[in-house]
Amino acid sequence: MNPPAVQTPPVMVAVFNQKGGVAKTTTACNLAVCLRAFGYKVLLVDLDTQGNATASFGITPLPAIGAFEVIVGRAGIGQAMLATEYEGVWLLPATMSLRDNDQMLVHAGKRRGLLEARLAETGVHIVVVDCPPALAAATATALASASAVLMPVRPDPYAHEGLVNTWYEIKRIREVVNVQLGVAGILLTMTASEPTGDDVAKVIRAEFGEQVYGIEISTDPMVAQAAQLALPVAVLDPDGLAGRGYVDATLEVLRRLGRQNRPGTALPEPLGLDDALNRLREWRSTTHAALLRRPEGNSGWAAAKAAEDDDEEEDFVAPRGNAPEAARLRLLPWLAAAFAAGMAFDALIRHWWG
Ligand SMILES: Nc1ncnc2c1ncn2[C@@H]1O[C@H](COP(=O)(O)OP(=O)(O)OP(=O)(O)O)[C@@H](O)[C@H]1O
Ligand SMILES: [Mg+2]
Repeated sequence: MNPPAVQTPPVMVAVFNQKGGVAKTTTACNLAVCLRAFGYKVLLVDLDTQGNATASFGITPLPAIGAFEVIVGRAGIGQAMLATEYEGVWLLPATMSLRDNDQMLVHAGKRRGLLEARLAETGVHIVVVDCPPALAAATATALASASAVLMPVRPDPYAHEGLVNTWYEIKRIREVVNVQLGVAGILLTMTASEPTGDDVAKVIRAEFGEQVYGIEISTDPMVAQAAQLALPVAVLDPDGLAGRGYVDATLEVLRRLGRQNRPGTALPEPLGLDDALNRLREWRSTTHAALLRRPEGNSGWAAAKAAEDDDEEEDFVAPRGNAPEAARLRLLPWLAAAFAAGMAFDALIRHWWG
């Protein structure tokens, strides 16, 4: 009898900075869809008790089974991961238990490769982990398995200090727990939003050199609009400032993972840039269409899609029986109404002005 096929553990990128509000979640969600646009199967893991990445994919309230249950062995990965609107992108959501029992992960944070082992059978190429803004036990669990850590940094006056502390913690985890942990780079986010931003960015570039990406994610109002609609900005506006920034940053992540050339970072070649952009634009039209067909009382693409697929909820919820969550998606109704009104106004203006 042949031995069972060996599952290659996925490459794991942890998105982390101890500092809050630097665009970790925005980066993790956009990286996940952009990696899919470049052809990879992706699992986004929400390890933040705030559950922002989970909500960003329209899943609200938090489900009963998710990342915490998988890590502590209460549920299998197949039971917990949810399919998303983007075929080939799955989500391992945050749960209330993660919020209440972070201390139960202290042991997991000291064990190299535990999360990696739990996710080995998913068959995805890349796992992107959205970490909380602290070196909580959940973050330690992610870093103990990660192939590389990507650090978003918002160049505000305290950014440098936050980055130095984060860098120190990563170094310590590499020495003590995970010698394989590499650096996927430092990504400047929300640039050009503060008068001192340029100076802070210069200091960070001078100190961290080529670890800092040449590409920056500019401050862009479309990010907030996308968040309100539970869409990644790379889908809502793939050719816009932040949307295109995330596409380019994803290529940079892939380049750096390729350069590391260490076990756990080998990936197949990505699709070309045009193919990736076209895929994002396609998702943009389908999610817009779903928003405009939204049912009364719900908003966001996920709610619209859930109602549309009333008879086939499994389409949205992947390999386990968590389907009711998809149907219970609730976002603010006025957001979709405002969005639809905006589209209609846009069409009217174009009609008037040819
Ligand atoms: N490029 C951008 N332009 C404008 N706003 C942005 C941009 N990136 C992120 N934001 C906004 O900044 C806020 C913080 O972003 P986000 O939640 O991704 O940060 P975070 O680091 O995950 O926060 P936390 O530490 O609380 O987890 C959000 O309101 C988000 O919409
Ligand atoms: Mg966050």
